[in-house]
Amino acid sequence: MVRALDIEPLRDTTFGAVVRCGRVTDLDEPSFRELYAAWLKYALLIFPDQFLKRDEQIAFAKRFGPLEFEMAAISNVKSDGTLRIEKDNDDVMKVLKGNMGWHCDSTYMPVQAKGAVFSAEEVPTIGGHTGFADMRAAYDALDQATLAKIEGLSAFHSLYYSQAKLGHEPKKNSDGEYSGYGFHSGPVPRRALIKVHPETGRKSLLIGRHAHNIPGMEKDDSQRLLQELVDFACQPPRIYHHDWKPGEAVVWDNRCLLHQATPWDMTQRRIMWHSRIAGDPVSEAALA
Ligand code: OGA
Ligand code: MN
Repeated sequence: MVRALDIEPLRDTTFGAVVRCGRVTDLDEPSFRELYAAWLKYALLIFPDQFLKRDEQIAFAKRFGPLEFEMAAISNVKSDGTLRIEKDNDDVMKVLKGNMGWHCDSTYMPVQAKGAVFSAEEVPTIGGHTGFADMRAAYDALDQATLAKIEGLSAFHSLYYSQAKLGHEPKKNSDGEYSGYGFHSGPVPRRALIKVHPETGRKSLLIGRHAHNIPGMEKDDSQRLLQELVDFACQPPRIYHHDWKPGEAVVWDNRCLLHQATPWDMTQRRIMWHSRIAGDPVSEAALA
């Protein structure tokens, strides 16, 4: 069925749009191509009133490319329906807390993610928003001195680093290796601070909580610079925090946005579903 896409750009930001198109599961190929072009332009598309079933979300995500993983619950509710206790600080709670820092997904893997389809099933009354920040606009807003300073620089990206910084030390298994998704034992990926988008050619800043240790810089100077860049980049009008309603879905471009969760009262339930779109190894692989 051919549907007209109603695309309404977000106000007071450099990116993002709300898309009304009926159910995203029903888009025919021409409509999807139009949607994909809008995704490249706006980097974040928000779809109200979708209430996607799991297989529907996975199928929709797959239209953007092969998936890194099909579906992960991002939630403080366990599969048995009971709440995780905040102070237990179990591994899932550590992930939820970690997500509250500005980051880009899977930059600590050999190939960073292309994007994600993310949906809300149950949301708290206050907080638990998802913030997004436009790293294309951040790059465009850099002054000449900063630009000259960071041109050609790169940083290492590791989940081990970013979680350890929050006091969340992952355990080593009997082989002395870190187990668990993202705590890889291979070489730590290194990525340029300035990323060129493989489909639009636009430059953006590739920074966030997993980035550390710029080769050729003192550790402290490197940390200061990376923090200054995040502080500068994640400011209005380059940020937007989405206040979720159940049934909403979004798709974000992980090649040019940072994102973060905002805190919420963990005695309230928050159930979100994440389908992660895999990056193209040609453009999203770490530097050799
Ligand atoms: C993620 C993530 C943020 C949120 O799922 O990768 O960072 O708002 N989520 O839960
Ligand atoms: Mn994330």
